[in-house]
Amino acid sequence: MSYEMLLVETRGAVGLITLNRPKALNALCAQLMQELGRAVAALDADDAVGAIVITGSERAFAAGADIKEMKDFTFAEVFGSNFITRDWEHVSRVRKPVIAAVAGFALGGGCELAMMCDMILAADTAKFGQPEVTIGTIPGAGGTQRLTRVVGKSKAMHMVLTGEMIGAEEAERIGLVAKVYPAADLVAEAVKTAEKIASFSRPIIAMAKEAVSKAYETTLTEGIGFERRLFHATFATDDQKEGMTAFAEKRKADYKHR
Ligand code: CAA
Repeated sequence: MSYEMLLVETRGAVGLITLNRPKALNALCAQLMQELGRAVAALDADDAVGAIVITGSERAFAAGADIKEMKDFTFAEVFGSNFITRDWEHVSRVRKPVIAAVAGFALGGGCELAMMCDMILAADTAKFGQPEVTIGTIPGAGGTQRLTRVVGKSKAMHMVLTGEMIGAEEAERIGLVAKVYPAADLVAEAVKTAEKIASFSRPIIAMAKEAVSKAYETTLTEGIGFERRLFHATFATDDQKEGMTAFAEKRKADYKHR
């Protein structure tokens, strides 16, 4: 598969996607988002891949949806073509864990793309923001919903209503980011984290991801019930037997992903 706006490679059991539209600070145009959708679907379907990392450049993870591309769209066009939903939802549908490795700007749709991933690892240079109000619109790729669920109402309102950016340290403090690394180490550390995830049983990891994701979609009682069914289901896998037996026998587990 060939891509013009992405670099896609595998490192061991990790699929690494680099957004590669540097002159536009990785502005997320339709072509880039279509290519990203194809790339994540291909890695999700590849049995040799256990986890995916999405990263950008040192300067920008992504500076948002492509303003120049969308500035003249009419309501009829965006509604009729299902703008955003059509090209942007692929990442949130991937079943394997997806890590956003963010250096530099993650603004507007860039911040929203990072939040569609399962966790965000950041360089100390990272800057997150939802500046849409400054250009006469509002976040349109899930920002008002995902950001609010992650950081709470007051912080989300502050970011969405002022358009101001926050740095990596603050993003980690408020729970938007899982860990912060020196910029030079970011991609290697993200791949290391993805490798660790990929070393575990694939079906068990998929169940763990589904269970945590459910917490954002449902009530506590329903979420706990969902978790309990999945927890019980892990006992139907060979990998649960292998993992617990290996612990008891003081050896490393040899997962077969079934
Ligand atoms: N869309 C299109 N092009 C963009 C872009 C974007 N979102 N962000 C940056 N670019 C382009 C610039 O136009 C510029 O192109 P030229 O060299 O051809 O002039 C190039 O990338 C470099 O950008 P700057 O010269 O502006 O770089 P800077 O270092 O001075 O500023 C910045 C960096 C603060 C990120 C600034 O580029 C900026 O404010 N970008 C827009 C951020 C933004 O508003 N994002 C939200 C978009 S709306 C959205 O995402 C909707 C949604 O929810 C789905």
